Amino acid sequence: MDILHEPSALRARCDAFRSEGQRIGFVPTMGALHEGHLTLIDEARKQGATRIVVSIFVNPLQFGPRDDYSRYPGTLPEDAEACASRGVDVIFAPDRDAMYPDGFVSQVRVAKLTETLEGVFRPGHFDGVTTVVSKLFHLVGPAVAIFGRKDYQQWKVLERMVRDLDMPIQVVGMRTVRDEDGLAKSSRNRYLSEADRARALAISAGLRAASRAFKEGERDPASLERLARAHIEPAFDTIDYVAIADADTLQPIERVHERALLVVAARIGSTRLIDNLVLGEEVIP
Ligand code: PAJ
Repeated sequence: MDILHEPSALRARCDAFRSEGQRIGFVPTMGALHEGHLTLIDEARKQGATRIVVSIFVNPLQFGPRDDYSRYPGTLPEDAEACASRGVDVIFAPDRDAMYPDGFVSQVRVAKLTETLEGVFRPGHFDGVTTVVSKLFHLVGPAVAIFGRKDYQQWKVLERMVRDLDMPIQVVGMRTVRDEDGLAKSSRNRYLSEADRARALAISAGLRAASRAFKEGERDPASLERLARAHIEPAFDTIDYVAIADADTLQPIERVHERALLVVAARIGSTRLIDNLVLGEEVIP
């Protein structure tokens, strides 16, 4: 496995892979890798990738002034070991200036899908994500790219970007990987003390409660949201949102039919956690 830092080196390597007829699978990350990320790597192989590229880049463009950019965990040696153990061929770990040299001013923006939920609480966040992922896609030229449904809206936005801009890339959304007790794995979980981690379980408890009620026939979005909120409110310091939305358009709905997205963002101290569940499609064990 090679670790490349220069965009030009990455492009040359990926051009060579493609000219050998290799099918490149790509997993973009910000590092501090956990089993959720590693499952995406495994999925790339299941999708027929014969070469796997993982990027590790904490993208300043997608962090707002209130976000945790400056303290985002950096663990490259451990990440490299984990990637090697899963058969990754190339890690791309550029520094900030390599991705955004002086004079950089361009942006890729997806409208509509970015204007609800996370988009309301993190203005500019998705523009940062779509811009960096476009750059990475152009450098790598993957046949398939794997994203996690833990960041459900991000996955939907990137799916839309690829379709709208005719990028010849198959986008795959992987189910959320959780700890045994239901907490969604996240690089940000390492900020939580043991006591705060216990509080954080209120999110999966809230999602489970709503999913149980849905199974028993509840179809009113406000009631389902209330059920989830009742678990989350006492445990968290701030709730950004607990919302039911159409699972494809991410717009609010008046009634749940076969399926709907239940999505949560809340904070314990300065640690912001997000999670979601598609009612009618998934359950949290
Ligand atoms: P990051 O938060 O590092 O996540 C990288 C990928 O791992 C994303 O597709 C995310 O959805 C997925 N992921 C994270 N936790 C997961 C879990 N518990 N189960 C399954 N998948 C999980 O998302 C980003 O980085 C960035 O926004 C990025 C796309 C790299 C652009 O900078």
